[in-house]
Amino acid sequence: MDYAILPIAQEHIDGFHAALDRVARERKYLLYLEAPSLEKTREFILGNIRDRNPQYVAVSGERVIGWCDVVRNPREASRHCGILGIAVVPEHRGQGVGRRLMTTVIDAAWARDFTRIELGVREDNLTAIALYRNLGFAIEGVRRKAIRIDGQYEDVVTMALLKENGA
Ligand SMILES: CC(C)(COP(=O)(O)OP(=O)(O)OC[C@H]1O[C@@H](n2cnc3c(N)ncnc32)[C@H](O)[C@@H]1OP(=O)(O)O)[C@@H](O)C(=O)NCCC(=O)NCCS
Repeated sequence: MDYAILPIAQEHIDGFHAALDRVARERKYLLYLEAPSLEKTREFILGNIRDRNPQYVAVSGERVIGWCDVVRNPREASRHCGILGIAVVPEHRGQGVGRRLMTTVIDAAWARDFTRIELGVREDNLTAIALYRNLGFAIEGVRRKAIRIDGQYEDVVTMALLKENGA
């Protein structure tokens, strides 16, 4: 499969929104169950570009097939911390796209003076947890019953990577 990993740009907003909506509607992986509005998504992306938060997309032809971002914590004493989000659309999973997105974004985060990358992952998402572990993320805790979908509770595992422990 031919694809490129690119820093996100305005031209990717619609494609990013469509990909986010697809993965959200799977209901199994994200904290969103559908994408936020296109307007809110545009604000998020333009904010990341303005603030130089690392955000990359995997693009195949004209389509956004995956993304990864690290968003800086705005509080002064935690500005070295960023929250990572990632997903790949279903038909392109298991082909190395997610790992490439992660390593690209992690390198960009260290270059932009982040020294800690945090994330939360739903307890059943064993593929994602394995990928994060392989890249050096450590489990720091569990947010018990932090998710409730259709009346079913799930825990969220919190993980983090410190700059000096990166793979
Ligand atoms: C998690 C996700 C981003 C990984 O991206 P991907 O492109 O599928 O993953 P890759 O092909 O790069 O493989 C990454 C690792 O996962 C492993 N893996 C991939 N598919 C797997 C599967 N079905 N079962 C078990 N392990 C799997 C690979 O062996 C690989 O291991 P590595 O560390 O040796 O490289 C992707 O599966 C996804 O988008 N899932 C749904 C959304 C999601 O869960 N987002 C994260 C929310 S916290």
